[in-house]
Formats: sequence, structure tokens, C-alpha cells
Amino acid sequence: MMKSEMENDILKVLVTEEDLQRRVAELGEALYQRLEGKNPLFLGVLKGCFVFMADLVRACQLKCDVEFMALSSYRNATVSSGKVEISRDLHQDVAGRHLVIVEDILDSGTTLAFLKDYLLFKGAASITIVTLLDKPSRRTKAITADLAGFEVPDEFVVGYGLDYCQQYRNVPYIGVLKPEVYSG
Ligand code: IMP
Ligand code: MG
Repeated sequence: MMKSEMENDILKVLVTEEDLQRRVAELGEALYQRLEGKNPLFLGVLKGCFVFMADLVRACQLKCDVEFMALSSYRNATVSSGKVEISRDLHQDVAGRHLVIVEDILDSGTTLAFLKDYLLFKGAASITIVTLLDKPSRRTKAITADLAGFEVPDEFVVGYGLDYCQQYRNVPYIGVLKPEVYSG
């Protein structure tokens, strides 16, 4: 077993490394079926997508290219503005392209609802939304993923790209932190 400084902060494991690997292979296969011959552009939403996206593009042996955007949605404790800002925009034209949005988690739906509209406005030929995790209980926007890896309960999760205060992205499974980590 590899040593981990973060292990002591994890309360429980929600999705194991083996389950992640198996499900990502299935998602890759499903994308292949849908997009064969279409030369899709995989568009990752930074930073949370980076681990999932690296595995997903290798699990899907389509001829494709990759692109990234960074978005921040401001969710203040008192005001939920639902406002999304682009902090890294597209570096290429996506008009006429078949896009695969790769997201770590679909929570309120604010980020993806914004992104989908934005990409349609930019002239995307089609948009397929793939999210590793889905928290449907938290949804406030009418948006669903075309493909979702796992449904998770309304708990804050970390690992496999997902962070708490920019930490824990390199935890190799999906876990829930101990309460003292948040309060400490
Ligand atoms: P949404 O706009 O509310 O759907 O939020 C999506 C973004 O919030 C995700 O891309 C994550 O970056 C972040 N997020 C939401 N829930 C969690 C969580 O449980 N753990 C880590 N990040 C989360
Ligand atoms: Mg994200």
C-alpha cells in the first residue's frame, strides 16, 4: 500500500479506485459508440476534470482533440448569484464541432447550464455532457448529463481531481473528509 499523508483526513470511501477504473472504461466505450467517425473535441472543465479526463480520453480510442476551459461560479453563503465567470476561455474555434464536455461533478447545474449555452452560441454542432459524479438532489438548473459515472449523495466529496480548498485532488478514489478537516 502506497503511503498517503491525506489518508487520515478521509472519513469514508464512496467510490474505490477499482470502481472508478471499471466505470471510466464503460463511459469511454459509450462515447465511442456515440461519436465514432465524428472527430469530437473533448472539452475539460478545469481544474476538477484533469484526472478523469486523462483516463477518459485513453478509455475512448476515438480520433479526437482536447481543449480546456476554466470557470468559476460564485456561491456565497448568503447570496447564490448563479453567476459564472470564464477564467480561461477557449483557445480555438468550436463552430461545427462535436463537443464532449468533461466535468468532475454536476451539482447545482449552474456551471454546466452556462457552459452549454455558451458553446451553442459559439456554434457547436453537438454537445455531449459527461460527468464523473452526479448529485441530482442539489440541482437548481434544468440540466442533465448525457453520461454520468456515479450518483452521489448530498455530501462534499474529494479525490480523483475533486478538491477541498485546492487540496486532495490527488487522492486516487472518491472520499468524504472528516468533519474536523472543515472546521480545523
Ligand atoms: P455546480 O455549478 O453547482 O454544478 O458546481 C459544479 C462545480 O462545483 C464542480 O465542477 C466542482 O468544481 C464544485 N463542486 C460541487 N460539489 C462538489 C463536491 O462535493 N466536491 C468538490 N467540488 C464540488
Ligand atoms: Mg468542476
